[in-house]
Amino acid sequence: MNSLSNLLAPRARPSLPLPLPLRAAAPATSSARAAAPAPRRWRQRARLPSPVSAVAAEAPSAASLIDGEEKEKEEGQFDWLDQWYPLAPVCDLDPGAPHGKTVLGLRVVAWYDRAVDEWRVFDDACPHRLAPLSEGRIDDKGRLQCVYHGWCFDGRGACQFIPQAPALGPPVHKNSKACVASYPSVVQNNILWFYPRADEEHRDVLQRKRPPFIPEIDDPSFVTVYGVRDLPYGYDVLVENLMDPAHVPYAHKGLMGKFCKKEDLGRVEFDIEGGGPIKMKTKEANVDGFLTEQQENRGYFRYVAPCTFYGSPLPREVAPFAVDDSPLPSEATEEEKKKKPQFMMVFMCIPVAPGKSRVIWALPRNVGVWLDKVIPRWYYHMGPNALFDSDMYLLHVEERNFAAAGVENWHKAVYVPTSSDNMVIAFRNWFRKHCKSQVGWAVPTADQLPVTPTKDKLMERYWSHVAQCRSCSAALKAMKALEVALQFASVAVVGFLAVAKGTLVTSVVQRAAVVSLAVLCFGASRWLASFIQKNFYFHDYIHAYK
Ligand code: FES
Ligand SMILES: [Fe+2]
Repeated sequence: MNSLSNLLAPRARPSLPLPLPLRAAAPATSSARAAAPAPRRWRQRARLPSPVSAVAAEAPSAASLIDGEEKEKEEGQFDWLDQWYPLAPVCDLDPGAPHGKTVLGLRVVAWYDRAVDEWRVFDDACPHRLAPLSEGRIDDKGRLQCVYHGWCFDGRGACQFIPQAPALGPPVHKNSKACVASYPSVVQNNILWFYPRADEEHRDVLQRKRPPFIPEIDDPSFVTVYGVRDLPYGYDVLVENLMDPAHVPYAHKGLMGKFCKKEDLGRVEFDIEGGGPIKMKTKEANVDGFLTEQQENRGYFRYVAPCTFYGSPLPREVAPFAVDDSPLPSEATEEEKKKKPQFMMVFMCIPVAPGKSRVIWALPRNVGVWLDKVIPRWYYHMGPNALFDSDMYLLHVEERNFAAAGVENWHKAVYVPTSSDNMVIAFRNWFRKHCKSQVGWAVPTADQLPVTPTKDKLMERYWSHVAQCRSCSAALKAMKALEVALQFASVAVVGFLAVAKGTLVTSVVQRAAVVSLAVLCFGASRWLASFIQKNFYFHDYIHAYK
């Protein structure tokens, strides 16, 4: 099994390098909220170095992407505001409450408008005195109510009710200043997306441009497991890490099973982790992303800028085909292909703020479909969360090292001599050529990375995942109740023994059985407490002991 294959296992994974800087937003047309101020750079950098010092002879395709500055100027600049951004899988959104999210530096609130059965995305600031609407509630008429003073808004963002306004006074709620900005939004592939411009001219953007679509997710013969995790490193570190199969055996050691030795003629040294050469070829690189194929027909990955990265480690004649419009080597019919086991990985990489990102993963498959009827989603989340934990601190620190070197100096600061880094290089080239190595934030953004907290806070799982996951939240609640029940039972059994000794419990065997039951309940409660802590709050991963 190759590294990409391992990535596919029913968990997620990450791990490698990257720098980063971000920057002010692209030309913010008349933006969403009336005032999307011209973003500014949060990091200033020197002009880009030219090619290649760090790129290897073994990676010709990547090296060839690193052209001179003249050519760069001919390349289109990426418009970060003219894109759709995923907010959350719908299965994790409670229609009975508003949900606050930060994307591209923009604080928005998603809420369910039951009047039209649609999710809405607003600015997360009440026009009255800017309290966060995500702390609000859905009122009895199905409107979004700000809980600071009770103003209510309909699905278009129009204010419908100001409790403090006299009924016979002027209709102040109809003033345009009482409206909240409403962004275009759509549910696609069971994920809520929004477009970060709220002005009138973008209201029908969906007719011109849609989010990237993955047909397999909507295919009824597939099941898809979704998950979300907030990460303490930036967007480009996240993307680069997901595009790096070579780190998997090392950074996730012990989490992904055994790796087979790679075929490598003449090799005399093999390590126990199982790393080896990975040959990849990148093509179709342009402002919208690129396609990478593993040689020997071992799978492919496509990056659709800025958020979507998907693929499969399966040979392309077996792997899902509809997502790729290039011809397949196989003559197999669609019917034949659908009968073959297929699975793919879809990652949505979301820029949240400098030094912060969010990943939404979706893993569609047409094998073991019945398992989803018996295995709860929280169980599927333990693996990916452990994987993200295992290189989290490493990536957090690496980002600071790159920041010290200067993002635009990435190609000089790193040494990437093997083709296993080809996808990473392709992404870095895209980021440099089309984005000047900076994310186009939608709002003015502070020019610095957050301070590094202690490891237990950096790797905490509750706020970064559990609180956003309806399945894990429900499981945590049930397990805590069970833990209390087990503790109560152990005490109750001991009490029963004290009361019933000499009456109901007379023999030594009976007493031993009752005591054993008490110990068992107590032991189970302790085990459960440890399970809860590791899977819902914090579980350290120390590479040296793996
Ligand atoms: S701040 Fe929202 S109603 Fe006053
Ligand atoms: Fe979860």
